[in-house]
Amino acid sequence: MSDLSLAAAAPDCADDGVWLACIECGEQLAPFDEPTYRCPDCGGLLEARYEQYPTFEEFSGRGVWRYDAALPFDHGVSLPEGDTPLHEVPRLEADVGVRSLRIKHEGMNPTGSFKDRGMTVGVRVAEELGVSRLACASTGNTSAALAAYGGRAGLETLVLLPAGKVAAGKVAQAALHGARILEVDGNFDACLDIVSELADRGEAYLLNSLNPFRLEGQKTIGFEILETFRDEYGRFPDRIVLPVGNAGNTAALYKAFRELVRAGALAEDEVPMLTGVQAAGAAPMVEAIEEGYEDTERWEDVETRATAIRIGNPVNAPKALPGIRATGGTAVAVADDAITDAQRALAEEGVGVEPASAASVAGLRKLREEGVVDDGEDVVCLTTGHLLKDPDAAAAAGAEPEPVANDTEAILDHLSG
Ligand SMILES: Cc1ncc(COP(=O)(O)O)c(C=O)c1O
Ligand SMILES: [Zn+2]
Repeated sequence: MSDLSLAAAAPDCADDGVWLACIECGEQLAPFDEPTYRCPDCGGLLEARYEQYPTFEEFSGRGVWRYDAALPFDHGVSLPEGDTPLHEVPRLEADVGVRSLRIKHEGMNPTGSFKDRGMTVGVRVAEELGVSRLACASTGNTSAALAAYGGRAGLETLVLLPAGKVAAGKVAQAALHGARILEVDGNFDACLDIVSELADRGEAYLLNSLNPFRLEGQKTIGFEILETFRDEYGRFPDRIVLPVGNAGNTAALYKAFRELVRAGALAEDEVPMLTGVQAAGAAPMVEAIEEGYEDTERWEDVETRATAIRIGNPVNAPKALPGIRATGGTAVAVADDAITDAQRALAEEGVGVEPASAASVAGLRKLREEGVVDDGEDVVCLTTGHLLKDPDAAAAAGAEPEPVANDTEAILDHLSG
């Protein structure tokens, strides 16, 4: 059983009020002595812990580093990231039928996905540790972010991608930002197994969301949503719906809420219901929620058009499943066609997202239809990556170009035809 309580006093190994704790056995570790991704005693996931957790009043400035009081450092390699829009989508809101619906568009980060929030913190930690090579496995977006932030920091970057299963925009980003790209004949989970081994052998510093500091950056999504929503509506949202792959964001948002509750800034009954959405062809988290598992069972064969969430072994499940359960949320699987429909509906409101991102809206629709989501709810859907990340999926989902003659009269005829 995971122990996600934040109550402990700072141990001797803490560095400036920060330490790492194993969520399984409670082991406490120095945070910046050496690269550490899992508990050396039991192999459990690690979580960053702090002597003090801030209230909203302690946040100032913009972007991810606005929340430095809740982070291990007060600045990092920044492009800058965070401060993303909370879009209104009035037609979609009316169509889905909820009290309010807002879209937190993480595709508006510098490399076009939420991964930038994790990288600004993770690369800062890499500098602290003095490592020279950074690495990740990726369905695409992590590799783009790692290449950009690692490049900015002047560090070597290595990315392992599942061959033929990464959207074109993401590979292009990783290539141009200077990562060494290894295309593996296997899926994302196989890439993560290998890169974890490389990291354990000291070949590279791992910057997947298994790295607890990545999630520290990503928890700022939660702080931003709550602050913006409260400023506009005078209350917090009832529910946050998000796509789930490795379950990093689900874990990170839950950590943001736990910290705010611990600081006395958020009441237990104000914590939004965390609601995860997976593609039907890659839904081990949904299975775990439905079956009451404490961890997911690995799916060896995964397939979905939403390649960013084509993941069968979500490493952060032991942190994320308790978050979904404790907040009264749920998890739901959606068909690829429903994802594409949601991608179109968002695009019609001017919000351009990649397929995985649209899963959140597809999931919300399904849960409304099933009556799980109430019409009186205030809902925020997270969209995790930009439309241009996957230009092929966007073109396939959108209208066909119409060939016309190079002639105004012919075009007028065509338009009236
Ligand atoms: C666009 C997009 N959405 C969602 C996810 C999944 O996020 P998480 O691993 O935090 O569940 C990813 C991760 O690769 C992604 O790139
Ligand atoms: Zn342990």
